[in-house]
Amino acid sequence: MIPLNSNLSALKRSQIRVYTNLARATEDCAMLTIGEPDLNTPEEIKAAAIAAITADQTHYAPNQGTLELRQAVADFESRRGNETKPEQVLITIGACQALFTALLGILNPGEEVIVPTPGFSLYDTITTIAGGKTVALDVSKTGFQIDEAALAAAITPKTKAIVINSPCNPTGVIFNRESLEIVKKAILGKDIFLVWDGVYSQLSYGDCPDLTLDAEIKDQTILCQSFSKPYAMTGWRVGYLVCPEYVMDRLLLLSAGTITAVPTFVQAAAIAALKADVAPMKEIYARRREFVCGRLRQMGLTFPNPEGAFYVFVDISRFGIGSEEFCTRMIREGKVAAVPGSCFGAEGYIRLSYCYSDEELQKGLDRMEKFLATLEG
Ligand SMILES: Cc1ncc(COP(=O)(O)O)c(C=O)c1O
Repeated sequence: MIPLNSNLSALKRSQIRVYTNLARATEDCAMLTIGEPDLNTPEEIKAAAIAAITADQTHYAPNQGTLELRQAVADFESRRGNETKPEQVLITIGACQALFTALLGILNPGEEVIVPTPGFSLYDTITTIAGGKTVALDVSKTGFQIDEAALAAAITPKTKAIVINSPCNPTGVIFNRESLEIVKKAILGKDIFLVWDGVYSQLSYGDCPDLTLDAEIKDQTILCQSFSKPYAMTGWRVGYLVCPEYVMDRLLLLSAGTITAVPTFVQAAAIAALKADVAPMKEIYARRREFVCGRLRQMGLTFPNPEGAFYVFVDISRFGIGSEEFCTRMIREGKVAAVPGSCFGAEGYIRLSYCYSDEELQKGLDRMEKFLATLEG
């Protein structure tokens, strides 16, 4: 066999898919695993794409994205207090490519990326591909917030970036102002980037402090954003990145060399999305969140308070089995699927998603309650 890129040897298949597949192969298994809206893309967004195709907007778009969409993103960001010019905006294939472009664009081999953990595993995948090293910052023992001493201990001369995802996948937790102040203090004036993954920022159920609004660290901040979650557009694969112009100068070449550009008519749909009102969808998730959290509390389970996104990260440590065994048994014996905490770097937890209809949630939680009784009985 001819040797391949050795950076890839350490990569593993996403365990989320493994558990989803096991659940699919199990007859009549209720799923609480999925990380995407069950709702459909709003009509006005679909209509904008159809109109763009009809108008023959089917040619290559500019590498950085159409000026119309970059201007719309710049206006959207500026309106919420993140003063942005279209030159600072790169349209990407979802937040995945924004994160890929950001991390690959800044990392040299051996450089380190600090990731509050539990966290989304893609950051580690990209860092590994780039030949960098992920430094997990365990936040599970500090109320899922950043501890100043722990962050200080994680920083080394090789630290190149810290990734903050708020609201967080898998916990739904929002990093509070104190945590963000600690992050800011740790990086201010240093050669360390803040990579801000804000894909759930429009799906927060209360105050959501945001370091991308902080002018003092603007030169060190790369925002990765997505249309997937707030507008139910996962399959459209569109997102964006906002960064200082000196960073864009390099990142644009990386993105152009990877994807050329996001499909032109998808960008037309994204412009319509930025005008859409996300409040009705958010209301649906907020109601489901109340229902799911209420049922879990009745079962005597604990979890960090999910203030955003559409997940609950449930503590299962009292059952004395690992999260993978717990989820495998819950699929096989209880016919309901969740994602093990180990997929996010944390043992003793499972992630439940409430991107499901009321009936599905009811069914899944009824089954989970029965399964828990068999473990305790
Ligand atoms: C925290 C987080 N960041 C980024 C992404 C990628 O989103 P996109 O569909 O925009 O690529 C996801 C998707 O699940 C996510 O949960």
